Amino acid sequence: MAATIIAPPKIRQTNLLIGGKWTESRSGKRFATVNPVNEQVLAEVAQGDVADVDAAVKAARAAFDSGPWSRMDARDRGRLMNKLADLMEANLEELAGLETLDNGKPLRDARAADLPLAIDCLRYYAGWADKLTGDTIPIRGNYFCYTRREPVGVAGQIIPWNFPILMAAWKWGPALAAGCTIVMKPAEQTPLTCLRMAELAQEAGFPDGVINVVTGYGDTGAAIVRHPGVDKIAFTGHYETAQKIMVDASATLKRLTFELGGKSPNVVFADADLDAAVAGAEFGLFFNQGQCCCAGSRLFVEQSIHKQFVEKVVARAKTRQIGDPFDLNTTQGPQVDADQFHKIMSYIDKGKSEGAHCLTGGSRIGNKGFFIEPTVFDNVSDDMSIARDEIFGPVMSILPFKNVDEIIDRANNTYYGLAAAVWTKDVQKAHRFAASVRAGTVWVNCYDVFDAAAPFGGFKMSGMGRELGAAGLANYTELKTVTMSLG
Ligand code: NAI
Ligand code: MG
Repeated sequence: MAATIIAPPKIRQTNLLIGGKWTESRSGKRFATVNPVNEQVLAEVAQGDVADVDAAVKAARAAFDSGPWSRMDARDRGRLMNKLADLMEANLEELAGLETLDNGKPLRDARAADLPLAIDCLRYYAGWADKLTGDTIPIRGNYFCYTRREPVGVAGQIIPWNFPILMAAWKWGPALAAGCTIVMKPAEQTPLTCLRMAELAQEAGFPDGVINVVTGYGDTGAAIVRHPGVDKIAFTGHYETAQKIMVDASATLKRLTFELGGKSPNVVFADADLDAAVAGAEFGLFFNQGQCCCAGSRLFVEQSIHKQFVEKVVARAKTRQIGDPFDLNTTQGPQVDADQFHKIMSYIDKGKSEGAHCLTGGSRIGNKGFFIEPTVFDNVSDDMSIARDEIFGPVMSILPFKNVDEIIDRANNTYYGLAAAVWTKDVQKAHRFAASVRAGTVWVNCYDVFDAAAPFGGFKMSGMGRELGAAGLANYTELKTVTMSLG
């Protein structure tokens, strides 16, 4: 296939956005963000610390408490959000290129998935801005009782590196629609697109202090969590980080929502449309280099089709095009950084030493950049570490099963509960599975179908609360009850 290589965009912004001003960090410190294709430094980005977070929280508080945001007509808030969405659409190529540069994901995915989903999310929530209503409640006595949905206040939002633009949109959308102001910390691996989005928000006309961005490492995030001026934390990342956040947030009893990892079962019954299931298994695991919280990382295949299925899925894994993510033929880029690369390679080693059969892949590609071969393990058993832990890489684990009774228990035998999928033509089996699996999202004969209107989040250690849809918006509100004597 002829290479079609697109040139990366220029990096324009590497400072902090605090109260409408782009500034250096107060300490003057910067940190490097690295190109995962060649391990070279892309840019040195301002490293915010406690003092910068304090300034950002003060700016967000001012914009909320006395500033324009919470007092602005809801319809005007919605209009600004739509304007930001329009500007993101107008700058789609640049944003997609910047995402690819910083994260390593194929440009074709950034163009076709990350950006359209993020833009759609902002538009969806823009429509909610003037539709937050309360109830009138019939209570005993001569009273008029009603509820109001009010913004929770300043939202601290801490996001990971696997979908930087999309995670920012999932966080900004409901917060802005509800009338909250924001202090966001993007991931240290991928700060660039969030900064560019914040520039576009300024261009759209968001008042100063409504959206503040403080880049930095985990300690910058912790400073947001500990700050008494922050009312709510929304976090996406590892559950161990969420555990620390719960401890740090306890002093001020902040509202918390978490979207954490998973070890999602993807279950293929013998009566499924086999080719569709194979395609769904490949996409559900290898999409985004396997760096998906909802990756179908426990692929359960019914015994009677196991051999046939494995042949087909291995053949598909071998057709993946790995290489320069700016080449439009590329379907798999590098992993995001050295830490993730080493974590994944160590799981591949564990899979081999614990006795799973490595049918394809299993090695690094090249010696520069964080490229890993699409890897398929067969005959994985439930107790192996590759079947229990989140690998977050292009490593498929196939676990054979016998029947529907057995599979529900096995699917639920995990401390995670983010997503699950089932492939079958039998509606009873599909419904039984959907009702019995302990997971926040269940896909039937499809995988990774996302929509801004459909709630997403985890049971068990996969999270707390939901993002997207009306449920995602409710998390950014406080409910106030007003009772008035009628004399
Ligand atoms: P992480 O949870 O450490 O990082 C996510 C975000 O939290 C980053 O912005 C980070 O700077 C921030 N952070 C780190 N420590 C913090 C603290 N004490 N207080 C406040 N914020 C803090 O995840 P990491 O290290 O990037 O990845 C480790 C593993 O987590 C991955 O291998 C994967 O298994 C899982 N993960 C899951 C994601 C998901 O979508 N659910 C996304 C990213 C990672
Ligand atoms: Mg970490």
